[in-house]
Amino acid sequence: MKTTKALSGSRRSLLKWGLCGFGGLMIATLPETANAQRRRRRSKTLTFNADDAGILNFALLLEELEAAFYAAAVETSDITDSKELEYLSVLGAQEAAHVTFLRSVLGEQVLFETADLSFNQDGLEALLSDRDTILNTAVTLEDVGVHAYNGAGPSLTNPTYLLAAGSIVSVEARHAGGVRALLGKPTTEPDSDRLVDDDSLDADLNPFKGKAYDELYTPRQIVEILGSLGIINNSIDGALVA
Ligand SMILES: [Fe+2]
Ligand SMILES: [Fe+2]
Repeated sequence: MKTTKALSGSRRSLLKWGLCGFGGLMIATLPETANAQRRRRRSKTLTFNADDAGILNFALLLEELEAAFYAAAVETSDITDSKELEYLSVLGAQEAAHVTFLRSVLGEQVLFETADLSFNQDGLEALLSDRDTILNTAVTLEDVGVHAYNGAGPSLTNPTYLLAAGSIVSVEARHAGGVRALLGKPTTEPDSDRLVDDDSLDADLNPFKGKAYDELYTPRQIVEILGSLGIINNSIDGALVA
């Protein structure tokens, strides 16, 4: 039941964001096209087990999405301010470095290659439609990354993996703050921007709610948000996200 509540909460929030002018996120409400359905059927299913390897591979997926997003963003002509373009380029390079780093930490535990990812071009283009949509999507991806890494932390048992995740999450938080600053927003995430509302937070993961901390999202909640963004065609399953 908790999952159902979380999903409906995400959808409500996404819709609210769209209505507030976060145009890129309006894709959450668009029906999947026949082409998208075909691509989804053809693309590799990403299966994440509820273990250390599954968790770190899930983090790898988020890094891949961030890296792909920034690589595409700097290729548009919508970012005309040289400082903003430079900042997004730096973020893209850091996301690519995170991908390389996690792949090296995972070694033979890597579950998918970059080439296995099938990006939804229509979804991606919608998120790249103009400067504000690009920057707001960047904020969303970075904030979601922070919530995801924090949510995974308590489940990790391998200290090397925990160290890797911990060393990345702080960077993601800086990314989020940096892009928020470009938009003239507060550098920390206000509750009103969160895609999972208080009632839908997993209580076991969030014992410190109300004490000025970053909320922890479950992998299932992250998958729902990714689905709403419509960035990839790959299906995602496995015990981690059940
Ligand atoms: Fe990253
Ligand atoms: Fe990031």
